[in-house]
Amino acid sequence: MAAIVVEGGHPLDGDIHASGAKNAVLPILMACILADGPCEISNVPYLQDVTTTNELLGQMGVELGINEKMHVLVDATALNNHCAPYELVKTMRASILVLGPLVARHGQARVSLPGGCAIGSRPVNLHLMGLEAMGARIEVRDGYIHARADRLKGARIVLDTVTVTGTENLMMAAVLAKGTTVIENAAMEPEVVDLARFLQSMGARIEGAGTSTITIEGVDELHGTEYAVLPDRIETGTFLVAGAMTGGRVRVNATRPDTLEAVLGKLHEAGAELEIGENFIELNMHGRRPRAVDIATAPFPAFPTDMQAQFTALNAIAEGAAQVVENVFENRFMHVQELMRLGADIRLNGNTAMVRGVDKLYGAPLMATDLRASASLVLAGLVAEGETVIDRVYHIDRGYECIEEKLAQLGARIRRLPTTRAA
Ligand code: EPZ
Repeated sequence: MAAIVVEGGHPLDGDIHASGAKNAVLPILMACILADGPCEISNVPYLQDVTTTNELLGQMGVELGINEKMHVLVDATALNNHCAPYELVKTMRASILVLGPLVARHGQARVSLPGGCAIGSRPVNLHLMGLEAMGARIEVRDGYIHARADRLKGARIVLDTVTVTGTENLMMAAVLAKGTTVIENAAMEPEVVDLARFLQSMGARIEGAGTSTITIEGVDELHGTEYAVLPDRIETGTFLVAGAMTGGRVRVNATRPDTLEAVLGKLHEAGAELEIGENFIELNMHGRRPRAVDIATAPFPAFPTDMQAQFTALNAIAEGAAQVVENVFENRFMHVQELMRLGADIRLNGNTAMVRGVDKLYGAPLMATDLRASASLVLAGLVAEGETVIDRVYHIDRGYECIEEKLAQLGARIRRLPTTRAA
């Protein structure tokens, strides 16, 4: 398995640009199933999860291409297979996002239940409840979701838990339903808004995306479109935390500061000097060590769970002590044990981590477990004395485009080992 080697102790100083958002491009690519014509998607990040999505769509009979501008061309008009097989779904849970579009456009779907996941049980019951409310007949057997509907009909759906992909699946199902659908307690994440904007560019009639109540007026058909994906706020936040941890200066261009307010507030609290433009954020620590900051994750616009591991790593080397409360997923502290191998002082108690900043971390071999936890280990390696080797970096490649190239561009001493001894 590939590994990343980081030599700590070098403050970052440089400029990078944000890539397209993983959690926006995945639902957008799957929403192309709904269109009666070809779609051209730009600002698509080069990620393993995008490759998996293209494989998933391709085996359904969707035609995919890349043009000279590196835009992804998607034409689902010849789709002839309504199945998302376990072999693909087990590598990417977001595959569940083909369910809504398939039932809406083709009246049927057979989607493997996403298996367990490192960060939590992550059920999809709300996705299924919403589709049933819209008239779909759902049966779960042999590890697959079997869904059928002549034509979905509008319904009022109240989600008892805020779910990002649940909101997205139901919004995609509703755009071709007969009548009006109202989704209450909807997720407000920027990626939900980006998907809504994409659907609107195809002719969908959606109001309220970005608020907790989304109203969708079903239409009879949707046309192809061209669309540029939202910049990735989590990638942006991850590089800013890298700058804060190393006491350096990092400027992220081609990003959207308005999607990161809770994170920018915490970086400011940690002592970072921030310059914020319309499409860039520059962080400068002027060589200072960050101050520890309390974190409590919650749905947007509160502090994002996808930035929790990165701030746990920041707190591990910060001045003072802080508590990190993970309120969204039940098991999202796998990075803690690994950070403690570097010398971090962290005590776990249920969904709370008490972190006391230490003056120094010491490089060691580490194991990546899930996407954002892996990124936090790379960040810790940037400040740990000596070398840190992070194994199983395929987790990182799922969500970060060429992370070591972008960090090297910022002055990090980092390289990828093609394979390591079996861990
Ligand atoms: C999305 O996952 C993101 N993935 C996750 O990013 C992100 O961490 C998460 O939202 C929260 O922001 C994509 O967008 C592809 P949820 P999702 O449904 O939609 C419970 C990353 O690192 N729930 O919002 O799967 C669930 O158990 C990934 O990029 C139900 O109970 O998360 C969890 O506790 C990790 N029933 C809570 O809701 C359901 O039917 C939030 O989960 C659905 C969810």
